[in-house]
Amino acid sequence: MGVFDRTDHLKDAGHEQVVFCQDRASGLKAIIAVYSTALGPALGGTRFYPYADEDAAVDDVLKLSKAMAYKAACAGLDLGGGKAVILGDPERDKTEAKLRAFGRFVQALGGRYYTACDVGTYVQDMDVVAKESQFVTGRSPEHGGAGDSAVLTAYGVFQAMRAAAQHAWGTPTLDGRTVAVEGVGKVGRQLVEHLVEDGAQVVASDVDERAVDRVRSAFPMVRAASVAELPASACDVYAPCALGGSVTDQLAQQLQARIVCGAANNQLAHPGLEKVLADRGILYAPDYVANAGGLVQVADEIEGFRFERAKAKAAEIYDTTLAIFRTAEAEGVPPAVAADRVAERRMADVGRLRTLLVPGRS
Ligand code: NAI
Repeated sequence: MGVFDRTDHLKDAGHEQVVFCQDRASGLKAIIAVYSTALGPALGGTRFYPYADEDAAVDDVLKLSKAMAYKAACAGLDLGGGKAVILGDPERDKTEAKLRAFGRFVQALGGRYYTACDVGTYVQDMDVVAKESQFVTGRSPEHGGAGDSAVLTAYGVFQAMRAAAQHAWGTPTLDGRTVAVEGVGKVGRQLVEHLVEDGAQVVASDVDERAVDRVRSAFPMVRAASVAELPASACDVYAPCALGGSVTDQLAQQLQARIVCGAANNQLAHPGLEKVLADRGILYAPDYVANAGGLVQVADEIEGFRFERAKAKAAEIYDTTLAIFRTAEAEGVPPAVAADRVAERRMADVGRLRTLLVPGRS
């Protein structure tokens, strides 16, 4: 089998470029995948992860880079989609030399790919990568970066939830509604803050009890639920803010909520669940539309980070989400399918304009 047919993703999805990076001395093994640059440079984080094998790493980077292209396109950003993975255990294997070697490979792509934080990498790591590359976002504020992207991720999820409320109930407020938040880490706990301010009743769960305790010490009115009981609890909105794949067949059947809207990437455990939710009358705000605030935050760094400008852009997630619900209704498809169509149309329609030669413009 040839390299280009090696995985279903490479064969079917048609990534532009996949770069295998190796620096033996530092032990770096990384893969950078550029899915599309139709709308602009590909932006996506670097995941540092102990993959079971290289195939798993290839598969992950291909999937993640494609998702970034769709996320950027729907968010109205002039960015393509890319992602990188560094193979290894971040706790054990992360070194300055490895991060800087990775930075040199990012730089070598000449701006086709901008990196950022992801699972296993933090703002401090991006500061190190940035010593070798100018194409780095997600740096610390001290180095001109946007800092922790959870701030606008949570804000954007809240905007998507308001849009879902508007669509479902004719009013955007969550006042008086019960919202079940699964996972109160960096994003979940800031989402709780927005919800409490808006007058919602919040019930929260986390595998880490300390995370729930932290939220309850800031907001004593938040109720705690166990991870097992949350999915079937009485609520109006279910917000998956933990790991991907939490909306399983079982959860889709158990849910009492009218809306599913949260921060986690790849919330649906498998394709087809968007239809199960729709058939049960549950309005699903597509994950990559709802959680685009973090991407908006780091993307702003490319122009020189300004929080208010990034926040205003993240606020547009309200209108984007509403428009996707309307497209879904008009085209008779679940919102997740509508979101994919909106992204694909923008990549095709706006991306095509870049083939018109304008001297002095790329
Ligand atoms: P985090 O790691 O700070 O928080 C996740 C929380 O979920 C942790 O407190 C963890 O203990 C908890 N958790 C894990 N499994 C659980 C389960 N089965 N049930 C309940 N709680 C569980 O991560 P963060 O940054 O808050 O991200 C949350 C989700 O949002 C992730 O899926 C992430 O990929 C996604 N996301 C985050 C963005 C960001 O800017 N931080 C941007 C876009 C998406």
